[in-house]
Amino acid sequence: MKIQIDKLFQNTILQKEEWILLLSNRDRETIDYAFIKAREVSIQHFGNKVFARGLIEFTNYCKNNCFYCGIRAGNKRTLRYRLSKEDILECCRVGNELGFRTFVLQGGEDPFFTDEKMLVIISEIKNKYPDNALTLSIGERSYDSYLAFKNAGVDRYLLRHETANGEHYGKLHPNNLSNIPRKQCLNDLKNIGFQTGTGFMVGSPYQTKENLAEDLMFIAEFKPQMLGVGPFIPHKDTPFSDFPAGNVELTLFLLSLSRLLLPKVLLPATTALGTLDPKGREKAVLAGANVVMPNLSPLHVREQYMLYNNKLATGLEAAEGVAKLAESMSNIGYELVHERGDY
Ligand code: 5AD
Repeated sequence: MKIQIDKLFQNTILQKEEWILLLSNRDRETIDYAFIKAREVSIQHFGNKVFARGLIEFTNYCKNNCFYCGIRAGNKRTLRYRLSKEDILECCRVGNELGFRTFVLQGGEDPFFTDEKMLVIISEIKNKYPDNALTLSIGERSYDSYLAFKNAGVDRYLLRHETANGEHYGKLHPNNLSNIPRKQCLNDLKNIGFQTGTGFMVGSPYQTKENLAEDLMFIAEFKPQMLGVGPFIPHKDTPFSDFPAGNVELTLFLLSLSRLLLPKVLLPATTALGTLDPKGREKAVLAGANVVMPNLSPLHVREQYMLYNNKLATGLEAAEGVAKLAESMSNIGYELVHERGDY
């Protein structure tokens, strides 16, 4: 299996069968070799730097009903909140003081936040913090909306494809959602000139090794500038409450394969990984990840943005805990940096 890792390291494209073989027959030796090679690649491009982004979860209202997600419209047990423009700007002020030079505004697909409202918020943030990068993650919108956001100064946009396989997508989402418009959105975002992020869950219900191979092939073709790969974790008030969580080791292996595929990609150690494994962030960095996204949302709303059971929003996942996070990175030989870290 090491042969496939070497091929990736040399930028050789793998066939679908090879991906499936690699994912199905992975042994300790192959996994450790992939981690070493992935680390070599990230050190080559970024040195020992890990970039910090301040995450602001500004609304947990969502019109969609994704089967896996705790803030799905159908979950009547979630207490809903929206941050006001003033709240959001206060998060940015605190984040800026703490040294963050990227703000990530993430939310459910909330119709309350029309383009007009978003544009006002975006302009104020960019006015006050012209040197900071601004990332949006608010789901599927029209080409014109994305273009307006870009013109208002948004630098980056995150939209996970969730799974590249249409049939599998259909098992994770209600009938009104399909991955065809989603992929169109991703193309739009890229064409408009955003640093574009996509990504997928590992171990989501009904996922096969073939599906994961398709995810890797999709990212090899799409070449996102950012990539979120985290384990599925069940949420008690969703249709998927009884499915098992994704596997930490497999997630780490996929992170290392992603790093080998896309040497310069900005690859976060996800909160979901940190939630399943207290050493998840460190392990992710040692498998090629180079971004962490501590939470800047106001403390009182953090537990309401519950995408899955026990989602972390404090300790090392909290912006206030950034010193501890820096320490944990330093313990494994990496430096947490606050620079914008553009692609
Ligand atoms: N487990 C893991 N990740 C999840 N997400 C949503 N629900 C879950 C879950 N139950 C991820 C999705 C989404 C991102 C914001 O969070 O991939 O794109």
